[in-house]
Amino acid sequence: MNFVATSVLLLCLAGPVFSQVANICPQLCHPNPQGYVQSQTECNQSVLRDLCDVEGCSSENGPGFECLLPPNSFIVSNDQFGMVDVVVEYSWAANQTDLDSATGYLDGEAGVGCDGSAPFLMFNGDNRGPGGNETCTVDIEGARLQGLWTDFTSIAARAQWFGSLDRGPATLRLFLQNRADGVVVPNSELSMTITPGVGTGCASTPVGLVKVTRGQEHTRFMLRSE
Ligand SMILES: *[C@@H]1O[C@H](CO)[C@@H](O)[C@H](O)[C@H]1NC(C)=O
Ligand SMILES: *[C@@H]1O[C@H](CO)[C@@H](O)[C@H](O)[C@H]1NC(C)=O
Ligand SMILES: *[C@@H]1O[C@H](CO)[C@@H](O)[C@H](O)[C@H]1NC(C)=O
Repeated sequence: MNFVATSVLLLCLAGPVFSQVANICPQLCHPNPQGYVQSQTECNQSVLRDLCDVEGCSSENGPGFECLLPPNSFIVSNDQFGMVDVVVEYSWAANQTDLDSATGYLDGEAGVGCDGSAPFLMFNGDNRGPGGNETCTVDIEGARLQGLWTDFTSIAARAQWFGSLDRGPATLRLFLQNRADGVVVPNSELSMTITPGVGTGCASTPVGLVKVTRGQEHTRFMLRSE
């Protein structure tokens, strides 16, 4: 096999790993008065149930309804959870220093100054520098396989500036990362500006919540402030 053929084959094999973030919600704006009923029916197909939302929209013929992906969310195929890690990242700008993060999942928490067991959390360590980040990998699939959740689970993000000085807003990001090569799965990234607290020890200020809903064939991730 020549190089091109091998590359094409590899791309085809790699394809499914990188292409499973899919907006499966129909996103068709139906005009009133059928719109709401139509969108509800579309959203209530077994494969879409609980993953898409019915919202108002503007159609060519005036206001309507559609079944669509909620803001700041993405949907992935359930069959890729063996291959990807779920990563929560807290980052700050070059003119800021030392944000301390704490990520909570089920009964555990992991982060700077947090102790106790955290079986499904892997914290990458304290970063005290300017323009840095801290990350925590959350093994939601491990927890699900142990029967700790079935349809819904959530990850709590907390953060504070170390010490007694408020250094302003920071950024919270959620993404999926291929376990094999560390590449971020395209379109699996969600981020938002957060308002950390100030203090020492395990951070107690809630800054965000990752909501995970598992449907029949797909899972939806949403990043929310609470
Ligand atoms: C969604 O479908 C289920 C099962 O067919 C049905 O019981 C339920 O009433 C439907 N919900 C809506 C809002 O249509
Ligand atoms: C830090 O830099 C950002 C731009 O990256 C700027 O918007 C912000 O005002 C700066 N903060 C301070 C305290 O200088
Ligand atoms: C987080 O830190 C790593 C290692 O220092 C760096 O490679 C990466 O670009 C940083 N990410 C952000 C969003 O700053």
